[in-house]
Amino acid sequence: MAESMKGMKRTHRCTELTSQNIGEIVTIMGWVQKQRNKGGLVFVDLRDRSGLLQIIFEESDIASEMFEKAGKLRSEYVIAVTGTVEKRSGAANDSLETGDIEIRALELRVLSEAETPPFPIEENSKTKEELRLKYRYLDLRRPDLQKNIIMRSHVATTVRLFLAQEGFLEIETPMLTKSTPEGARDYLVPSRVHPGEFYALPQSPQLFKQLLMCSGYDRYFQIVKCFRDEDLRADRQPEFTQIDMELSFVDVDDVIAVNEKLIKKVFQETIGVDVSLPIPRITWIDAMNRYGSDKPDTRFGMELSDISELVKGCGFSVFTQAIEQGGSVRGINASGQADMPRKKIDALVDFAKGYGAKGLAYLAIMEDGTYKSSFSKFMTEEELTPIIKIMNAKPGDLLFFAADSNKVVWDVLGNLRLEIARNLGILDKNQFNFVWVTEFPLLEWNEDANRFTAMHHPFTMPMDEDLQYLETDPAKVRAKAYDIVLNGTELGGGSVRIFQNDIQEKMFEVLGFTKEEAYERFGFLLNAFKYGVPPHAGLAYGLDRLVMLMVGADSIREVIAFPKVKDASCLMTDAPNVVDEVQLDELYLKINLAETDSSAKNITSEEE
Ligand code: AMO
Ligand code: AMP
Repeated sequence: MAESMKGMKRTHRCTELTSQNIGEIVTIMGWVQKQRNKGGLVFVDLRDRSGLLQIIFEESDIASEMFEKAGKLRSEYVIAVTGTVEKRSGAANDSLETGDIEIRALELRVLSEAETPPFPIEENSKTKEELRLKYRYLDLRRPDLQKNIIMRSHVATTVRLFLAQEGFLEIETPMLTKSTPEGARDYLVPSRVHPGEFYALPQSPQLFKQLLMCSGYDRYFQIVKCFRDEDLRADRQPEFTQIDMELSFVDVDDVIAVNEKLIKKVFQETIGVDVSLPIPRITWIDAMNRYGSDKPDTRFGMELSDISELVKGCGFSVFTQAIEQGGSVRGINASGQADMPRKKIDALVDFAKGYGAKGLAYLAIMEDGTYKSSFSKFMTEEELTPIIKIMNAKPGDLLFFAADSNKVVWDVLGNLRLEIARNLGILDKNQFNFVWVTEFPLLEWNEDANRFTAMHHPFTMPMDEDLQYLETDPAKVRAKAYDIVLNGTELGGGSVRIFQNDIQEKMFEVLGFTKEEAYERFGFLLNAFKYGVPPHAGLAYGLDRLVMLMVGADSIREVIAFPKVKDASCLMTDAPNVVDEVQLDELYLKINLAETDSSAKNITSEEE
């Protein structure tokens, strides 16, 4: 039977009480974690979002029906207790923040009873994620998720305060809009009033924030939901949150400067980590050459070496052919791993093939100076020696080589490097290595579409010295684009924008849009540029990813209150779901399920 709180008012959260409060009469409210009935004594651990506190009910202290009620408390009942703060009668519990005190109860009310939850409400749950997500409201009671969600709130608050102090204005942009291309598929919303027409949910506020610069707001930010219909991974959700910003009258260094201050502040104030500034910068091409990735994890070395020059005339045709076809041969040195068992090496070869490698050559230099290798027999000692030298290899080291197009070689070795580090357990979640990746290529050749696409987005400014090649040699043009990378995860990205109509039109042309198509889709931006536009630049972080890394979670689902699973459904609400015929009629929609396979429903497991 639910009782009322009437006449009782909560005075503290559980862990707000300390030995300083001994002797005070307090009122606390929360969930029963555990009840232990010891004859004349009932102990209850009470839980609220701050933590746990022990309450003691003694038969001689209180009315008998109240004591009886205490004896019947079960896990997850919601109760209110008034009592006296006392020094703990038994031994202090060092594992609890409030382990040296307890509340001697004077009054108890049961505000709500509870059925037995489908899984225990405890830290480090072993419960399967599907079940946790189906009962997310219970899962969210668990201390580790509460810690994450509370951290997320602190991060957002810190960001808001900092940006406001730096003169940024928080301005909302529409959710029902026209699609702004960021490379993913749009979520569409049918219009009732305009039969056959659709809004798109924003993939980002990109165009609107640029328009706000045209309108003179100077410095904008927003903590904003974005929607992208793309395949989910551990660090991707269909709806996610950006910390989005745009600044006028700035260039690359200005954006980086204010963001370094922001990062320092957020890490300092929320998790007490001191990020040393300036954050290192690396150009895109150096990142690819050294780490095989545009989001390098710099917590460890194992950098790539280009051995193409050394092997272009060697006796191993796998290597020479790759070079003849315009590719390269590169390697990494897994230092001290020469004893890696053959089975593990084979597993790494398979791993490499998963990233498009045709094979993976290896060379183990044994302590006695002999080799174990898949290819040394094709080479002379004179050919091998300089390779070993350039890779700083010594007896005991294990070298891996990939020969292919640059793109494949980078991807294979970049991922292999991470896999070896993971296998060795050398990735420390408490180390935070930031790096800015700059000078991205402006464009990317898209084989399927047989044309260039924008690497970042079509509004990104070419680097001044490369502008001249925009029409003659587009592949050569680098962009004023930058990503902020943390421990191998792309945390955020941005760019200086094109603000001149002629360059923007040229850019659309290179991307294969006719002038008419460009105006059809982006006319509002191109027109705005005709009426006085400041030079501007911006950046957006993935808030979910940021918090995930800050709390050391393995998935962004652990820092989102109500996340979706891999097939973009919500296991708790069952969204998406079918709607009434009437609703469809109102929207002039007809469903055609002829070609779908509804059995493809997934749950959470995923290749990442
Ligand atoms: P971009 O597309 O790089 O840039 O996105 C910025 C950041 O948003 C995060 N992010 C995601 N997080 C979770 N799930 C997703 N599906 C997802 N997609 C992206 C990433 C990413 O770095 N308008 C530009 C920014 C700009 O140029 O100012 C933009 O959206 O952390
Ligand atoms: P093969 O002559 O095909 O038996 O290959 C000899 C060795 O070269 C094997 O270890 C293969 O895995 C390796 N190998 C084959 N293709 C490549 C490649 N593209 N890059 C690196 N190593 C390769």
